[in-house]
Amino acid sequence: MAEAPQRNLALDIVRITEAAALASARWLGRGDKEAGDGAAVDAMRISFASLRIDGVVVIGEGAKDKAPMLFNGEKVGKGEGPSLDVAVDPVEGTNLLAYGRPNAISVVAVAPRGSMFDPGPSFYMQKLVVPHEARDVVDLDAPVRDNLANVARAMGKSIQDLVVFVLDKPRHERLIAEIRAAGARIQLQTDGDVAGALMAVDPRSEVDVMMGTGGTPEGVLAACAVKGMGGQILTRLDPQSYVEKEAINERGIDLREVMGVNDLVRSDDCFFAATGISGGDFLRGVRYSGQHAVTHSLVLRGKTGTLRYVESYHNMERLSKISAVQY
Ligand code: FBP
Repeated sequence: MAEAPQRNLALDIVRITEAAALASARWLGRGDKEAGDGAAVDAMRISFASLRIDGVVVIGEGAKDKAPMLFNGEKVGKGEGPSLDVAVDPVEGTNLLAYGRPNAISVVAVAPRGSMFDPGPSFYMQKLVVPHEARDVVDLDAPVRDNLANVARAMGKSIQDLVVFVLDKPRHERLIAEIRAAGARIQLQTDGDVAGALMAVDPRSEVDVMMGTGGTPEGVLAACAVKGMGGQILTRLDPQSYVEKEAINERGIDLREVMGVNDLVRSDDCFFAATGISGGDFLRGVRYSGQHAVTHSLVLRGKTGTLRYVESYHNMERLSKISAVQY
């Protein structure tokens, strides 16, 4: 049935990630990750207030007593309009920002109320992200070599052509050895697996696949983008401590369960926006040129799969006169 064009919330939420990126980019390389994150959180909170949504944060800065703002369960938006689950990561890659490394980004995703996976007590999950050509040929339980061979075939490449994004963590020693043994190339980054997932599904990036264990909240955020791009993210909770494992067991969650993109976000009606904070070759970081600050963002609508790159020129003098956000 044909539909009239609907409101594209991605074009609303990109203003929020832009504001957070502009505010936090002032902290690039200054060695203070809390200050950079705090600036982004403040900017996001102020920007959400103008948005006509009835939002509840389901992926936020943490539990209420630890996070003063954008905590899980906090209501955001004007409280009218669509009822939404809201996932935020004001600075995804706080260390990347603090030490001036590439690919720190600001991220927001929204989806209908009740449709996003709630990480509960889970901090870490295993992830395998592939672009749409390979979405049906991967299996989280298959050997690394088999998955890479299948992805390469689906993409019309050889394994030697593939680039796999992996977080540079001791827990990935074996994974890295297996990828190397299979003959694929690797992009090792200290942090930022939401950017890694985005790169795996973005046709403009050199990365083809993301593998390894990272944050569970980051997995849900990434799933909103993967869904928009028609790719696949296969995940399984992967607790990294006894305490985390026990807490998950107490909730009766099966640690063997594999969750795909449609389990992490159970609606196609989702929206995603990310803005670069520190420069990467994927999303450019905030640049200052004369009176303007320039931001570079990616916005996605799940239902249509439309991907937009948004380059914005913010007039800092005018903004500073009217905006409550500290740029
Ligand atoms: P922060 O922005 O919260 O520092 O997260 C960065 C990050 O690298 C994520 O991209 C990733 O999912 C997670 O940390 C991995 O956690 P850890 O560094 O504990 O292995």
